Amino acid sequence: MTEPVLSVCDLQIEFALRRGTLRAIDGVSFDIAKGEVLGVVGESGAGKSVTGLAVIGLIDPPGRIAGGEIYLSGLRIDHLPPEDLRRIRGKRIGMIFQDPLTSLNPLYRIGDQIVETIRTHTSLSEQAARKRAIDLLAEVGIPAPDKRIDGYPHEFSGGMRQRVVIALAICVEPELIIADEPTTALDVSVQAQIISLIKRLGRDHGTAVMLVTHDMGVIAETSDRVAVMYSGRIVEIGPVQDVIQNPLHPYAKGLMGAIPTLAGEDKRLVQIPGSMPRLSAIPQGCSFNPRCAFAFDRCRIERPEPIRHGTQAVACHLYDAGVEDSAA
Ligand SMILES: Nc1ncnc2c1ncn2[C@@H]1O[C@H](COP(=O)(O)OP(=O)(O)OP(=O)(O)O)[C@@H](O)[C@H]1O
Ligand SMILES: [Mg+2]
Repeated sequence: MTEPVLSVCDLQIEFALRRGTLRAIDGVSFDIAKGEVLGVVGESGAGKSVTGLAVIGLIDPPGRIAGGEIYLSGLRIDHLPPEDLRRIRGKRIGMIFQDPLTSLNPLYRIGDQIVETIRTHTSLSEQAARKRAIDLLAEVGIPAPDKRIDGYPHEFSGGMRQRVVIALAICVEPELIIADEPTTALDVSVQAQIISLIKRLGRDHGTAVMLVTHDMGVIAETSDRVAVMYSGRIVEIGPVQDVIQNPLHPYAKGLMGAIPTLAGEDKRLVQIPGSMPRLSAIPQGCSFNPRCAFAFDRCRIERPEPIRHGTQAVACHLYDAGVEDSAA
């Protein structure tokens, strides 16, 4: 086994608020291998973005990493001094956010930003860096890149701007890219193009990608594996086709639209009733238990830890061998 590019172990993230401490992430662990795209899905507030921000060291007070470890190709990065982390963030981890203008300075020509980033992290000359920037813009599908390189961000459409951000994210060949809802703000037709670009990152550049989205369609298109998050935990993780075709966790089943109505005959797909608990009111046991059609006593008392089940891992007492044995 080669070492994963990203390894997150038992991550805990807390927000110290006046009313008390909120635990937004509670024991999240996952790996991403070289060239692999991990999709991270789950409803609003599940903790997808804060997990990504923790990896790139951008959790701001009152938030903090309260426990666990994060490794980038074997190097522990969760407790580095801010200066070291900034260098790693620029060179070894790229970021793509929902709004391209988060990453682009409106006052700079796009080419200047890419060239400056390349020159900060490599020894390329101005001319060589500019040539590389033009090649990158061509690679991400910007037409006439030798002319557009001198344009300002506002002169590009939303989709083209996101392509520029991707060029900027990959210009120093990072090992890892964190993409948080990169296509949400875009037209559907443009979304597909950006998705195929992200997919190519893994294939052509060997980049590991953590792709955060609430859109299972996007995950199905792009990801090798998927992690399903629910109130600050990963409830299921596995190869994307396996999780889509055979979701194990009751929440994942609902998310994949796999739960038929209780009427039995009627195979209409249903939404999961209820909503995710507030972080200040996480129920005891499994945080999904109040919404779960399969919950039993243990689910209201004991928090389930991830259990291997075939190619998947699932945090649900239904899959605990002890339960299956006693039921048999
Ligand atoms: N600055 C903050 N202060 C307090 N709590 C925060 C802060 N940022 C995030 N949280 C809490 O952390 C939890 C996870 O937030 P996060 O933004 O990661 O959710 P998400 O899964 O990305 O949701 P969305 O799909 O809406 O983007 C939320 O429930 C939120 O209440
Ligand atoms: Mg988010």
